[in-house]
Amino acid sequence: MEKFSITTAIDYVNGEPHIGHAYEKIFTDVIFRHFKKRSEKSFFLTGTDEHGIKIQKTAKTLNITPKELCDKNANSFIEAWKLLDINYSHFIRTTDDYHEKTVQDIFEKLLEKGDIYKHKYTGLYCSGCECFLAEKDLDEEGNCPIHGKKPEVVSEENYFFKLTKYKDKIINHIKNNPNFIQPSYRAQEVLNQLENIEDISVSRAKTNVEWGIEVKSDPSQVIYVWIDALSNYITGLGYKVNSESEENYKEFWPVNYHIIGKDILKFHSIYWIAILMALDLELPKSIYAHGWIMIDKNKMSKSTGNVISPKSVMEAFNLEKPDALRYFMVTAAVNGKDGNYSDDDFKEKVNADLANNMGNLLNRTLNMLVKYFDGEIKAEFINNELINETKETIDSVLKYFDEMEPALAANKIIELVDSANKFVNDKAPWALAKNGDMVECGKTLYSILNLMAKVAILIEPYCPNIASDMAKQLKIDVNMKYSEIEDLMVKEGKLITKEEIHPVFLRLDSEIMGDKKKQN
Ligand code: MSP
Repeated sequence: MEKFSITTAIDYVNGEPHIGHAYEKIFTDVIFRHFKKRSEKSFFLTGTDEHGIKIQKTAKTLNITPKELCDKNANSFIEAWKLLDINYSHFIRTTDDYHEKTVQDIFEKLLEKGDIYKHKYTGLYCSGCECFLAEKDLDEEGNCPIHGKKPEVVSEENYFFKLTKYKDKIINHIKNNPNFIQPSYRAQEVLNQLENIEDISVSRAKTNVEWGIEVKSDPSQVIYVWIDALSNYITGLGYKVNSESEENYKEFWPVNYHIIGKDILKFHSIYWIAILMALDLELPKSIYAHGWIMIDKNKMSKSTGNVISPKSVMEAFNLEKPDALRYFMVTAAVNGKDGNYSDDDFKEKVNADLANNMGNLLNRTLNMLVKYFDGEIKAEFINNELINETKETIDSVLKYFDEMEPALAANKIIELVDSANKFVNDKAPWALAKNGDMVECGKTLYSILNLMAKVAILIEPYCPNIASDMAKQLKIDVNMKYSEIEDLMVKEGKLITKEEIHPVFLRLDSEIMGDKKKQN
Protein backbone atom coordinates (compact mmCIF):
# COMPACT_ATOMS: atom_id res chain seq x y z
CA MET A 1 0.00 0.00 0.00
CA GLU A 2 1.53 3.31 -1.04
CA LYS A 3 -0.44 5.60 1.27
CA PHE A 4 -3.04 5.50 3.99
CA SER A 5 -5.08 8.32 5.48
CA ILE A 6 -7.72 8.40 8.18
CA THR A 7 -9.78 10.98 10.10
CA THR A 8 -11.89 11.05 13.27
CA ALA A 9 -14.93 13.16 14.04
CA ILE A 10 -13.91 16.49 15.54
CA ASP A 11 -15.21 16.84 19.09
CA TYR A 12 -17.41 19.62 20.39
CA VAL A 13 -15.52 21.69 22.90
CA ASN A 14 -18.48 22.57 25.09
CA GLY A 15 -17.25 19.98 27.57
CA GLU A 16 -14.20 17.98 28.56
CA PRO A 17 -13.07 14.81 26.75
CA HIS A 18 -14.77 11.65 28.01
CA ILE A 19 -14.22 7.98 27.50
CA GLY A 20 -16.60 7.93 24.48
CA HIS A 21 -14.52 10.53 22.63
CA ALA A 22 -11.46 8.57 23.73
CA TYR A 23 -12.86 5.33 22.30
CA GLU A 24 -13.05 6.83 18.82
CA LYS A 25 -9.58 8.35 18.95
CA ILE A 26 -8.02 5.14 20.28
CA PHE A 27 -9.87 3.00 17.72
CA THR A 28 -8.64 5.28 14.93
CA ASP A 29 -5.12 5.42 16.30
CA VAL A 30 -4.89 1.63 16.46
CA ILE A 31 -6.07 1.34 12.85
CA PHE A 32 -3.68 4.13 11.85
CA ARG A 33 -0.65 2.61 13.57
CA HIS A 34 -1.40 -0.74 11.95
CA PHE A 35 -1.69 0.66 8.43
CA LYS A 36 1.33 2.85 8.97
CA LYS A 37 3.32 -0.39 9.08
CA ARG A 38 1.80 -1.37 5.76
CA SER A 39 2.22 1.86 3.79
CA GLU A 40 4.93 4.19 2.63
CA LYS A 41 3.15 7.38 3.70
CA SER A 42 0.33 7.91 6.12
CA PHE A 43 -1.75 10.70 7.63
CA PHE A 44 -4.14 10.93 10.58
CA LEU A 45 -6.32 13.99 11.05
CA THR A 46 -8.27 14.86 14.19
CA GLY A 47 -9.33 18.03 15.97
CA THR A 48 -12.07 20.03 17.62
CA ASP A 49 -15.39 21.51 16.48
CA GLU A 50 -15.63 24.93 18.07
CA HIS A 51 -18.54 26.92 16.67
CA GLY A 52 -22.29 26.92 17.25
CA ILE A 53 -25.03 27.79 19.64
CA LYS A 54 -24.04 25.19 22.27
CA ILE A 55 -20.59 26.70 22.71
CA GLN A 56 -22.06 30.19 22.74
CA LYS A 57 -24.55 29.21 25.47
CA THR A 58 -22.02 27.29 27.59
CA ALA A 59 -19.58 30.22 27.45
CA LYS A 60 -22.34 32.59 28.51
CA THR A 61 -23.24 30.52 31.56
CA LEU A 62 -19.54 30.41 32.51
CA ASN A 63 -19.23 34.16 31.98
CA ILE A 64 -16.34 33.81 29.55
CA THR A 65 -16.06 34.45 25.81
CA PRO A 66 -16.71 31.57 23.40
CA LYS A 67 -13.08 31.76 22.27
CA GLU A 68 -11.86 31.48 25.87
CA LEU A 69 -14.03 28.40 26.33
CA CYS A 70 -12.73 26.91 23.07
CA ASP A 71 -9.09 27.54 23.97
CA LYS A 72 -9.49 25.98 27.38
CA ASN A 73 -11.35 22.89 26.23
CA ALA A 74 -9.45 22.34 22.97
CA ASN A 75 -6.41 22.19 25.18
CA SER A 76 -8.04 19.53 27.35
CA PHE A 77 -8.63 17.41 24.25
CA ILE A 78 -5.04 17.90 23.09
CA GLU A 79 -3.78 16.92 26.58
CA ALA A 80 -6.05 13.88 26.71
CA TRP A 81 -4.83 12.59 23.34
CA LYS A 82 -1.26 13.11 24.47
CA LEU A 83 -1.96 11.06 27.58
CA LEU A 84 -3.41 8.30 25.40
CA ASP A 85 -0.52 8.38 22.90
CA ILE A 86 -2.79 9.29 20.00
CA ASN A 87 -0.34 9.65 17.18
CA TYR A 88 -2.21 12.12 14.96
CA SER A 89 -0.46 13.95 12.13
CA HIS A 90 -2.45 17.18 12.41
CA PHE A 91 -4.90 18.63 14.93
CA ILE A 92 -7.37 21.04 13.38
CA ARG A 93 -9.44 23.55 15.33
CA THR A 94 -12.38 25.01 13.41
CA THR A 95 -11.42 28.42 14.81
CA ASP A 96 -8.07 28.22 12.96
CA ASP A 97 -7.77 31.04 10.42
CA TYR A 98 -6.97 28.84 7.43
CA HIS A 99 -10.05 26.74 8.13
CA GLU A 100 -12.41 29.70 8.54
CA LYS A 101 -11.18 31.29 5.32
CA THR A 102 -11.57 28.14 3.22
CA VAL A 103 -15.03 27.44 4.66
CA GLN A 104 -16.09 30.94 3.56
CA ASP A 105 -14.68 30.27 0.09
CA ILE A 106 -16.47 26.91 -0.11
CA PHE A 107 -19.76 28.62 0.77
CA GLU A 108 -19.23 31.33 -1.87
CA LYS A 109 -18.38 28.73 -4.50
CA LEU A 110 -21.61 26.83 -3.81
CA LEU A 111 -23.57 30.10 -3.94
CA GLU A 112 -22.02 30.97 -7.30
CA LYS A 113 -22.83 27.51 -8.56
CA GLY A 114 -26.47 27.92 -7.54
CA ASP A 115 -26.33 24.98 -5.12
CA ILE A 116 -26.97 27.36 -2.20
CA TYR A 117 -30.01 29.67 -2.27
CA LYS A 118 -31.86 31.94 0.21
CA HIS A 119 -35.19 30.81 1.67
CA LYS A 120 -37.55 31.72 4.52
CA TYR A 121 -38.13 28.81 6.85
CA THR A 122 -39.79 27.82 10.11
CA GLY A 123 -38.66 24.60 11.72
CA LEU A 124 -37.85 22.67 14.89
CA TYR A 125 -34.21 23.17 15.82
CA CYS A 126 -32.38 20.85 18.23
CA SER A 127 -29.31 22.62 19.56
CA GLY A 128 -27.92 19.26 20.73
CA CYS A 129 -27.91 17.91 17.17
CA GLU A 130 -27.29 21.38 15.74
CA CYS A 131 -29.91 20.67 13.08
CA PHE A 132 -33.59 21.02 12.19
CA LEU A 133 -35.73 17.98 12.97
CA ALA A 134 -38.95 16.86 11.30
CA GLU A 135 -42.04 16.09 13.46
CA LYS A 136 -41.63 12.40 12.57
CA ASP A 137 -38.09 12.37 13.99
CA LEU A 138 -39.34 13.26 17.49
CA ASP A 139 -40.27 10.79 20.22
CA GLU A 140 -43.76 10.41 21.72
CA GLU A 141 -43.28 13.41 24.01
CA GLY A 142 -42.14 15.58 21.12
CA ASN A 143 -38.49 15.45 22.25
CA CYS A 144 -35.34 14.91 20.22
CA PRO A 145 -34.72 11.15 20.60
CA ILE A 146 -30.95 11.64 21.08
CA HIS A 147 -30.95 14.61 23.46
CA GLY A 148 -34.31 14.07 25.17
CA LYS A 149 -35.13 17.79 24.86
CA LYS A 150 -37.89 19.70 23.06
CA PRO A 151 -36.50 21.39 19.94
CA GLU A 152 -37.01 25.16 19.61
CA VAL A 153 -39.31 26.61 16.95
CA VAL A 154 -36.99 28.71 14.80
CA SER A 155 -38.19 31.01 12.03
CA GLU A 156 -35.49 32.56 9.90
CA GLU A 157 -34.49 33.55 6.43
CA ASN A 158 -31.55 31.25 5.80
CA TYR A 159 -29.41 29.91 3.03
CA PHE A 160 -30.34 26.43 1.86
CA PHE A 161 -28.24 23.79 0.17
CA LYS A 162 -29.77 21.78 -2.70
CA LEU A 163 -29.32 18.40 -1.08
CA THR A 164 -32.13 16.90 -3.16
CA LYS A 165 -30.15 17.58 -6.35
CA TYR A 166 -27.61 14.97 -5.25
CA LYS A 167 -30.00 12.37 -3.84
CA ASP A 168 -29.88 9.92 -6.77
CA LYS A 169 -26.15 10.27 -7.20
CA ILE A 170 -25.58 9.44 -3.53
CA ILE A 171 -27.94 6.46 -3.66
CA ASN A 172 -26.09 5.12 -6.71
CA HIS A 173 -22.73 5.63 -5.07
CA ILE A 174 -23.76 3.72 -1.95
CA LYS A 175 -25.30 0.90 -3.98
CA ASN A 176 -22.31 0.60 -6.33
CA ASN A 177 -19.70 0.70 -3.57
CA PRO A 178 -20.49 -1.93 -0.95
CA ASN A 179 -17.53 -0.87 1.21
CA PHE A 180 -18.41 2.81 1.19
CA ILE A 181 -20.43 2.66 4.40
CA GLN A 182 -19.14 0.27 7.05
CA PRO A 183 -20.17 -1.87 8.81
CA SER A 184 -22.28 -2.80 5.76
CA TYR A 185 -25.52 -3.12 7.79
CA ARG A 186 -25.44 0.67 8.27
CA ALA A 187 -25.75 1.32 4.50
CA GLN A 188 -29.43 0.37 4.47
CA GLU A 189 -30.08 2.80 7.30
CA VAL A 190 -28.61 5.61 5.19
CA LEU A 191 -30.55 4.54 2.09
CA ASN A 192 -33.75 4.71 4.14
CA GLN A 193 -32.89 8.21 5.35
CA LEU A 194 -32.19 9.28 1.79
CA GLU A 195 -35.78 8.41 0.82
CA ASN A 196 -37.13 11.46 2.63
CA ILE A 197 -34.41 14.06 2.38
CA GLU A 198 -35.11 17.71 1.76
CA ASP A 199 -32.83 20.65 1.06
CA ILE A 200 -31.04 21.70 4.26
CA SER A 201 -30.56 25.03 5.91
CA VAL A 202 -26.86 25.90 5.84
CA SER A 203 -26.75 29.22 7.67
CA ARG A 204 -28.23 30.86 10.76
CA ALA A 205 -29.12 34.49 11.29
CA LYS A 206 -26.38 36.19 13.28
CA THR A 207 -29.07 37.60 15.54
CA ASN A 208 -29.72 34.00 16.70
CA VAL A 209 -26.23 32.50 16.53
CA GLU A 210 -23.26 34.78 16.83
CA TRP A 211 -20.51 32.26 17.32
CA GLY A 212 -19.80 30.98 13.83
CA ILE A 213 -18.06 31.71 10.55
CA GLU A 214 -19.68 34.64 8.74
CA VAL A 215 -20.99 34.24 5.22
CA LYS A 216 -18.50 36.38 3.30
CA SER A 217 -21.03 37.99 0.98
CA ASP A 218 -23.69 38.39 3.69
CA PRO A 219 -22.25 39.03 7.19
CA SER A 220 -25.74 38.98 8.72
CA GLN A 221 -25.55 35.18 8.51
CA VAL A 222 -23.17 32.60 9.96
CA ILE A 223 -22.39 29.30 8.27
CA TYR A 224 -24.20 26.25 9.66
CA VAL A 225 -21.99 24.41 12.11
CA TRP A 226 -22.10 21.08 10.24
CA ILE A 227 -20.90 22.63 6.94
CA ASP A 228 -18.14 24.29 8.92
CA ALA A 229 -17.27 21.09 10.80
CA LEU A 230 -17.43 18.63 7.90
CA SER A 231 -15.15 20.82 5.79
CA ASN A 232 -12.35 20.18 8.31
CA TYR A 233 -11.63 16.93 6.49
CA ILE A 234 -10.30 18.85 3.50
CA THR A 235 -9.21 22.16 5.05
CA GLY A 236 -7.15 20.17 7.56
CA LEU A 237 -5.23 18.69 4.64
CA GLY A 238 -4.70 22.10 3.07
CA TYR A 239 -7.49 22.22 0.48
CA LYS A 240 -7.96 25.69 -1.05
CA VAL A 241 -10.79 26.93 -3.24
CA ASN A 242 -9.11 29.86 -4.96
CA SER A 243 -5.48 28.85 -4.97
CA GLU A 244 -3.45 25.70 -5.21
CA SER A 245 -4.13 23.18 -2.44
CA GLU A 246 -1.27 22.07 -0.24
CA GLU A 247 0.77 18.89 -0.64
CA ASN A 248 -1.07 16.92 2.07
CA TYR A 249 -4.36 17.44 0.29
CA LYS A 250 -2.91 16.23 -3.00
CA GLU A 251 -1.27 13.32 -1.28
CA PHE A 252 -3.95 12.14 1.15
CA TRP A 253 -7.36 13.13 -0.23
CA PRO A 254 -9.54 11.15 -0.67
CA VAL A 255 -8.93 9.54 2.71
CA ASN A 256 -9.24 5.80 3.23
CA TYR A 257 -11.56 6.20 6.20
CA HIS A 258 -13.68 8.70 8.03
CA ILE A 259 -14.16 7.17 11.50
CA ILE A 260 -17.26 8.51 13.24
CA GLY A 261 -19.90 7.50 15.78
CA LYS A 262 -23.15 5.95 14.59
CA ASP A 263 -25.10 9.04 15.72
CA ILE A 264 -23.53 11.27 13.08
CA LEU A 265 -23.58 8.90 10.12
CA LYS A 266 -26.32 10.85 8.32
CA PHE A 267 -24.25 14.04 8.32
CA HIS A 268 -21.27 12.23 6.85
CA SER A 269 -22.85 9.87 4.37
CA ILE A 270 -25.46 12.31 3.03
CA TYR A 271 -24.64 15.98 3.76
CA TRP A 272 -20.88 15.72 3.41
CA ILE A 273 -21.03 13.54 0.33
CA ALA A 274 -23.42 15.98 -1.37
CA ILE A 275 -21.13 18.91 -0.56
CA LEU A 276 -18.14 17.10 -2.03
CA MET A 277 -20.18 16.28 -5.12
CA ALA A 278 -21.20 19.93 -5.41
CA LEU A 279 -17.54 20.95 -5.14
CA ASP A 280 -16.60 18.34 -7.77
CA LEU A 281 -14.19 16.72 -5.35
CA GLU A 282 -13.44 13.05 -4.89
CA LEU A 283 -15.34 11.16 -2.19
CA PRO A 284 -13.74 9.47 0.83
CA LYS A 285 -13.15 5.79 0.14
CA SER A 286 -15.05 4.68 3.23
CA ILE A 287 -17.06 5.92 6.18
CA TYR A 288 -16.92 3.70 9.24
CA ALA A 289 -19.51 4.23 11.98
CA HIS A 290 -18.59 2.78 15.37
CA GLY A 291 -20.95 2.07 18.22
CA TRP A 292 -21.21 3.78 21.58
CA ILE A 293 -19.35 3.09 24.78
CA MET A 294 -21.64 2.57 27.73
CA ILE A 295 -20.62 2.79 31.35
CA ASP A 296 -21.68 -0.23 33.42
CA LYS A 297 -24.20 -0.89 30.63
CA ASN A 298 -25.74 2.60 30.89
CA LYS A 299 -25.57 5.46 28.45
CA MET A 300 -23.13 8.11 29.60
CA SER A 301 -24.83 11.39 30.39
CA LYS A 302 -24.28 14.47 32.47
CA SER A 303 -27.70 14.08 34.08
CA THR A 304 -26.93 10.51 35.21
CA GLY A 305 -23.56 11.74 36.46
CA ASN A 306 -21.69 8.77 34.99
CA VAL A 307 -19.45 10.63 32.55
CA ILE A 308 -15.89 9.45 33.03
CA SER A 309 -12.71 10.79 31.53
CA PRO A 310 -9.78 8.72 30.30
CA LYS A 311 -7.57 10.62 32.74
CA SER A 312 -9.71 9.60 35.72
CA VAL A 313 -9.46 5.92 34.75
CA MET A 314 -5.70 6.15 34.45
CA GLU A 315 -5.43 7.90 37.79
CA ALA A 316 -7.75 5.44 39.53
CA PHE A 317 -5.53 2.55 38.44
CA ASN A 318 -2.32 4.48 38.94
CA LEU A 319 -1.37 3.99 35.30
CA GLU A 320 1.51 5.99 33.89
CA LYS A 321 1.06 4.69 30.36
CA PRO A 322 -2.19 4.35 28.44
CA ASP A 323 -1.57 0.91 26.92
CA ALA A 324 -3.97 -1.03 29.13
CA LEU A 325 -6.80 1.44 28.58
CA ARG A 326 -6.13 1.55 24.84
CA TYR A 327 -6.15 -2.24 24.68
CA PHE A 328 -9.33 -2.55 26.69
CA MET A 329 -11.23 0.12 24.78
CA VAL A 330 -10.39 -1.21 21.35
CA THR A 331 -11.32 -4.75 22.28
CA ALA A 332 -14.59 -3.66 23.92
CA ALA A 333 -16.68 -3.82 20.73
CA VAL A 334 -16.86 -5.63 17.40
CA ASN A 335 -18.69 -4.99 14.13
CA GLY A 336 -19.54 -1.39 14.99
CA LYS A 337 -21.69 -2.47 17.95
CA ASP A 338 -21.86 -0.71 21.31
CA GLY A 339 -19.23 -1.61 23.90
CA ASN A 340 -19.13 -1.38 27.66
CA TYR A 341 -16.65 -0.03 30.19
CA SER A 342 -16.62 -1.14 33.81
CA ASP A 343 -13.71 -1.01 36.27
CA ASP A 344 -14.01 -4.74 36.96
CA ASP A 345 -14.05 -5.79 33.30
CA PHE A 346 -11.11 -3.50 32.61
CA LYS A 347 -9.03 -4.94 35.41
CA GLU A 348 -9.91 -8.52 34.58
CA LYS A 349 -9.23 -8.24 30.84
CA VAL A 350 -5.89 -6.46 31.01
CA ASN A 351 -4.64 -8.60 33.89
CA ALA A 352 -5.50 -11.75 31.96
CA ASP A 353 -4.22 -10.76 28.52
CA LEU A 354 -1.43 -8.27 29.09
CA ALA A 355 -0.03 -9.28 32.48
CA ASN A 356 -0.64 -13.01 33.01
CA ASN A 357 -0.52 -14.10 29.42
CA MET A 358 1.78 -11.86 27.41
CA GLY A 359 3.97 -10.07 29.95
CA ASN A 360 4.49 -13.10 32.13
CA LEU A 361 5.53 -15.36 29.27
CA LEU A 362 8.20 -12.96 28.08
CA ASN A 363 9.45 -12.43 31.62
CA ARG A 364 9.63 -16.13 32.43
CA THR A 365 11.39 -16.97 29.18
CA LEU A 366 14.00 -14.22 29.48
CA ASN A 367 14.70 -15.23 33.08
CA MET A 368 15.26 -18.83 31.98
CA LEU A 369 17.58 -17.65 29.22
CA VAL A 370 19.65 -15.81 31.82
CA LYS A 371 19.50 -18.65 34.33
CA TYR A 372 20.51 -21.44 31.93
CA PHE A 373 22.55 -19.59 29.30
CA ASP A 374 23.66 -16.33 30.88
CA GLY A 375 21.26 -14.50 28.52
CA GLU A 376 22.94 -15.79 25.41
CA ILE A 377 21.34 -17.20 22.28
CA LYS A 378 23.62 -19.81 20.78
CA ALA A 379 23.63 -20.60 17.05
CA GLU A 380 22.28 -24.10 17.67
CA PHE A 381 19.17 -22.73 19.41
CA ILE A 382 17.94 -20.97 16.30
CA ASN A 383 15.00 -22.81 14.79
CA ASN A 384 11.66 -22.26 13.10
CA GLU A 385 9.29 -23.97 15.49
CA LEU A 386 5.89 -22.26 15.97
CA ILE A 387 6.47 -20.51 12.65
CA ASN A 388 3.23 -21.77 11.09
CA GLU A 389 1.09 -20.60 14.00
CA THR A 390 2.83 -17.23 13.85
CA LYS A 391 2.32 -16.89 10.12
CA GLU A 392 -1.37 -17.75 10.45
CA THR A 393 -1.73 -15.08 13.12
CA ILE A 394 0.01 -12.46 10.99
CA ASP A 395 -2.33 -13.27 8.09
CA SER A 396 -5.43 -13.14 10.31
CA VAL A 397 -4.37 -9.83 11.81
CA LEU A 398 -3.99 -8.35 8.33
CA LYS A 399 -7.37 -9.68 7.30
CA TYR A 400 -9.13 -8.38 10.42
CA PHE A 401 -7.64 -4.92 10.01
CA ASP A 402 -8.77 -4.90 6.38
CA GLU A 403 -12.24 -5.62 7.79
CA MET A 404 -11.88 -2.91 10.47
CA GLU A 405 -11.98 -5.44 13.27
CA PRO A 406 -9.05 -4.58 15.56
CA ALA A 407 -10.80 -6.36 18.45
CA LEU A 408 -10.82 -9.66 16.55
CA ALA A 409 -7.22 -9.11 15.46
CA ALA A 410 -6.26 -8.63 19.12
CA ASN A 411 -7.97 -11.92 20.03
CA LYS A 412 -5.81 -13.66 17.42
CA ILE A 413 -2.63 -12.17 18.87
CA ILE A 414 -3.59 -13.29 22.37
CA GLU A 415 -4.49 -16.76 21.06
CA LEU A 416 -0.97 -16.99 19.63
CA VAL A 417 0.47 -16.10 23.03
CA ASP A 418 -1.83 -18.74 24.56
CA SER A 419 -0.43 -21.37 22.25
CA ALA A 420 3.10 -20.26 23.13
CA ASN A 421 2.26 -20.62 26.83
CA LYS A 422 0.94 -24.10 26.14
CA PHE A 423 4.09 -24.92 24.15
CA VAL A 424 6.39 -23.86 26.97
CA ASN A 425 4.39 -25.83 29.52
CA ASP A 426 4.41 -28.95 27.31
CA LYS A 427 8.12 -28.69 26.54
CA ALA A 428 9.00 -27.79 30.14
CA PRO A 429 12.42 -26.21 29.46
CA TRP A 430 13.15 -26.25 33.22
CA ALA A 431 12.87 -30.05 33.15
CA LEU A 432 15.02 -30.22 29.99
CA ALA A 433 17.68 -28.17 31.76
CA LYS A 434 17.48 -30.38 34.82
CA ASN A 435 18.03 -33.41 32.62
CA GLY A 436 20.95 -31.75 30.87
CA ASP A 437 19.19 -31.53 27.51
CA MET A 438 20.54 -28.02 27.00
CA VAL A 439 20.19 -27.71 23.24
CA GLU A 440 16.52 -28.68 23.37
CA CYS A 441 16.03 -26.29 26.29
CA GLY A 442 17.72 -23.44 24.36
CA LYS A 443 15.68 -24.21 21.25
CA THR A 444 12.46 -24.03 23.23
CA LEU A 445 13.35 -20.68 24.76
CA TYR A 446 14.37 -19.37 21.36
CA SER A 447 11.07 -20.43 19.77
CA ILE A 448 9.18 -18.47 22.40
CA LEU A 449 11.38 -15.38 22.16
CA ASN A 450 11.16 -15.37 18.39
CA LEU A 451 7.38 -15.61 18.59
CA MET A 452 7.27 -12.83 21.16
CA ALA A 453 9.30 -10.58 18.84
CA LYS A 454 6.51 -10.87 16.30
CA VAL A 455 3.90 -10.39 18.99
CA ALA A 456 5.63 -7.13 19.99
CA ILE A 457 5.19 -5.77 16.48
CA LEU A 458 1.62 -7.01 16.15
CA ILE A 459 0.60 -5.56 19.52
CA GLU A 460 2.30 -2.18 18.96
CA PRO A 461 -0.76 -0.44 17.46
CA TYR A 462 -2.70 -1.25 20.67
CA CYS A 463 0.05 -0.99 23.26
CA PRO A 464 2.89 1.12 21.89
CA ASN A 465 4.79 1.40 25.20
CA ILE A 466 4.54 -2.25 26.15
CA ALA A 467 5.58 -3.19 22.61
CA SER A 468 8.62 -0.97 22.66
CA ASP A 469 9.58 -2.36 26.05
CA MET A 470 9.29 -5.88 24.68
CA ALA A 471 11.28 -4.91 21.59
CA LYS A 472 14.01 -3.38 23.72
CA GLN A 473 14.46 -6.61 25.65
CA LEU A 474 14.42 -8.66 22.45
CA LYS A 475 16.70 -6.22 20.59
CA ILE A 476 14.39 -5.72 17.63
CA ASP A 477 12.98 -2.66 15.88
CA VAL A 478 9.35 -2.24 16.95
CA ASN A 479 8.60 0.08 14.04
CA MET A 480 9.48 -2.34 11.30
CA LYS A 481 7.12 -2.68 8.35
CA TYR A 482 4.70 -5.58 8.10
CA SER A 483 6.45 -6.94 5.06
CA GLU A 484 9.49 -7.62 7.26
CA ILE A 485 7.78 -9.40 10.17
CA GLU A 486 7.77 -12.89 8.78
CA ASP A 487 11.52 -12.84 8.20
CA LEU A 488 12.25 -11.30 11.57
CA MET A 489 14.52 -13.49 13.70
CA VAL A 490 15.86 -12.71 17.16
CA LYS A 491 19.64 -12.61 16.73
CA GLU A 492 22.31 -15.01 17.88
CA GLY A 493 24.59 -13.77 20.69
CA LYS A 494 24.17 -12.12 24.08
CA LEU A 495 20.56 -10.94 24.31
CA ILE A 496 20.07 -9.73 27.84
CA THR A 497 21.42 -9.54 31.40
CA LYS A 498 19.50 -10.17 34.62
CA GLU A 499 19.42 -6.42 35.33
CA GLU A 500 17.93 -5.60 31.93
CA ILE A 501 14.91 -7.86 32.41
CA HIS A 502 11.80 -6.16 33.68
CA PRO A 503 8.06 -6.87 33.47
CA VAL A 504 6.42 -5.08 30.56
CA PHE A 505 3.08 -4.81 32.32
CA LEU A 506 2.23 -5.06 36.00
CA ARG A 507 -1.08 -6.54 37.09
CA LEU A 508 -3.53 -3.88 38.14
CA ASP A 509 -3.92 -3.95 41.91
CA SER A 510 -1.26 -6.61 42.31
CA GLU A 511 1.24 -6.64 45.15
CA ILE A 512 3.99 -5.53 42.77
CA MET A 513 1.75 -2.65 41.87
CA GLY A 514 1.52 -1.81 45.56
CA ASP A 515 5.32 -1.91 45.87
CA LYS A 516 5.62 0.27 42.85
CA LYS A 517 3.29 2.81 44.40
CA LYS A 518 5.45 2.79 47.54
CA GLN A 519 8.63 3.26 45.51
CA ASN A 520 7.19 6.35 43.86
N1 MSP B 1 -18.73 17.85 16.46
C1 MSP B 1 -19.48 16.75 16.03
C2 MSP B 1 -18.72 15.96 14.97
C3 MSP B 1 -18.32 16.74 13.76
S1 MSP B 1 -17.39 15.74 12.66
C4 MSP B 1 -17.21 16.67 11.30
C5 MSP B 1 -19.78 15.83 17.20
N2 MSP B 1 -19.04 16.02 18.31
S2 MSP B 1 -19.19 15.16 19.66
O1 MSP B 1 -18.20 15.71 20.56
O2 MSP B 1 -20.53 15.15 20.10
O3 MSP B 1 -18.80 13.69 19.30
C6 MSP B 1 -17.55 13.42 18.71
C7 MSP B 1 -17.44 11.94 18.38
O4 MSP B 1 -17.45 11.21 19.60
C8 MSP B 1 -18.61 11.44 17.53
O5 MSP B 1 -18.16 10.57 16.51
C9 MSP B 1 -19.47 10.70 18.52
O6 MSP B 1 -20.20 9.64 17.96
C10 MSP B 1 -18.39 10.16 19.46
N3 MSP B 1 -18.95 9.82 20.77
C11 MSP B 1 -19.54 10.65 21.67
N4 MSP B 1 -19.96 9.90 22.74
C12 MSP B 1 -19.65 8.60 22.53
C13 MSP B 1 -19.72 7.42 23.27
N5 MSP B 1 -20.28 7.37 24.45
N6 MSP B 1 -19.15 6.31 22.75
C14 MSP B 1 -18.46 6.32 21.56
N7 MSP B 1 -18.38 7.40 20.83
C15 MSP B 1 -19.07 8.52 21.21
O7 MSP B 1 -20.62 14.97 17.06
